[in-house]
Order: sequence, then C-alpha cells, then structure tokens
Amino acid sequence: MPSDLRPYVGAHIVDGKSLSLDIQREVAEGVSALNERGVEVRLAVVIAGDDPASHVYVRNKERACERCGILSTRIDMPSTSNLEEMIEVVEQLNSDPSIHGILVQSPAPDGVNELAIASSILPQKDVDGFHPINLGRLVQGDSMGLLPCTPSGVMRMLDSSDVRLEGSRAVVLGRSRIVGMPMALMLAQKGSDATVTIVHSRTSEIESICSEADILVAAVGSAHMVGPQWVKPGAFVVDVGISRIEGGLAGDVAPEVSEIAGWVTPVPGGVGPMTIAMLMKNTLSATEMQTT
Ligand code: GUN
Repeated sequence: MPSDLRPYVGAHIVDGKSLSLDIQREVAEGVSALNERGVEVRLAVVIAGDDPASHVYVRNKERACERCGILSTRIDMPSTSNLEEMIEVVEQLNSDPSIHGILVQSPAPDGVNELAIASSILPQKDVDGFHPINLGRLVQGDSMGLLPCTPSGVMRMLDSSDVRLEGSRAVVLGRSRIVGMPMALMLAQKGSDATVTIVHSRTSEIESICSEADILVAAVGSAHMVGPQWVKPGAFVVDVGISRIEGGLAGDVAPEVSEIAGWVTPVPGGVGPMTIAMLMKNTLSATEMQTT
C-alpha cells in the first residue's frame, strides 16, 4: 500500500500505571521474602505544611506501600517548621533501626534549605536518591547507590519499549537536581549510551535542538510548552511535567504531539505512577542492604 494511503495510527501511549503495578507486584514478592526472614520493611515520610498537591502525592505513596506490604510512618510537621526542627526529625529516623527508608516531601517550607535536608538523611536510607553520596555514585556509574525515582522510572519506561538508546540523541528539557540532571546522567551512562543534550531556560534555539531528539524528556513544569513542531517524527517523548490548568492537569507536552511522536507518556498515568513504583523498589533495596 502506498505510504500516503496508510491509515494514521498516532503515537503509542505508554501505560505508566500498568507498568507501575507490575513493578509493585515484584516489590511485594521481595517484601514477602524479607517478612519470611522476620524483617518488616518500613518507609518514613515527612511532610511539612499543607500544600494540597504534596498531600495527594504522599497519600499515593502510602497506598503504594500498602499494596507492596511496606509499612509506612507519616510525620506531619507544621508549615512554620525550620531547618533545625526538620533535621532533628530526620536524625531520629536515621537512628531508628525499624525505619529503612526516609523521604522528606518537597517542597519544604519557605526558607528551609532542601539540600541541607537531603544531606542529613543517611545515604543507605535515602530512598529519594538525593543525598550527595548517592548522586555522586550515579556520576561515577557505581550501581551500589539508590537512584532518584523519577529518572529511574523513565529509564524503566524506555526499557519496556523497543526503543534503542545506544547511538540515539536524547534531549532533556530542564536541569533540576531531582529530574533533569540525574536523567541526563542515566541516559548517557555506559549501557544506556545515548548522546545527551541538556536544554534549559538560557538555551538558544530550544525548539530546533528538541526537534532533533530521538528521545525527548520534558521536565520543566510549564503546561503544554512542547508543541508538535518541537518533536522529531517517531520520537519517544517523555512528559515529566504536571501543572494544574483550568479543567484539570496538564503535562509539559501539548496533546497534538501524539500526532507526530512514536511514543508519548500521558499525564496523568505516565511518569507519576512510575516514580512511586521506583520509590517502592528503592525502599526494598534499602531494606535488603541494611539487613543482609
Ligand atoms: N515532590 C515532588 N516529587 C518528589 C519526589 O520525587 N520526592 C520528594 N521527596 N518530594 C517530591
């Protein structure tokens, strides 16, 4: 059939929710094996203040813990909490052997230095993977560390498709400590072997750089910023952004991109559930490391 008569199919929508549940089932098996050895797995989540989105995220993490058989302890702190008070809570959790993973929900209250909080968590309990030792291990290609959950979830989504990373051009839009920077490292590391460009607010000709990407990861938090003209036909487009707009939630990627791309991750139901799955996986790994 001539190609112009081929029916238009559109991008494959990557089902992060279903993949996340598969991973959580695997984690539940690992947790059962630890339970049989008499080890209970416990994650502590610290949340300061009343940011509604953060409370939704924390509730989703607690639900995932229930699915995986992981016990969770939630510590609610007031929005007036300062750095010293938050570090005091972290230090109590660090020294409690029944707690295997510690997560301090971001954003912290105004004026609280998140880097100082990340550094105060014991690296072996740092299930967010934000401690400088864990990020340093990622830079060095040392697989002993706990990896940041969102970029490792994206790597699992790429893995589950038949997209070839070796020799591909990847563009990461955004340079945050939590997503953009570790994402770029994971894509470039040995074994993944993509050639990576990081694009940020000071980059010129963003659109033309993005339009050459075989893999485009958008992580800026700007609703529908990536339009179809930014996307190479057939590209794998990962949408990490999530913004509240009139009428619901929006990713960084405009809906029309699915007419150009080969794969698109949806918002919601894409990267978000994968982040939670990787948090569960990190909590299991942290417990295994602490108890064997
Ligand atoms: N807030 C938004 N995403 C995250 C995350 O991955 N970890 C933490 N601790 N806070 C967040």
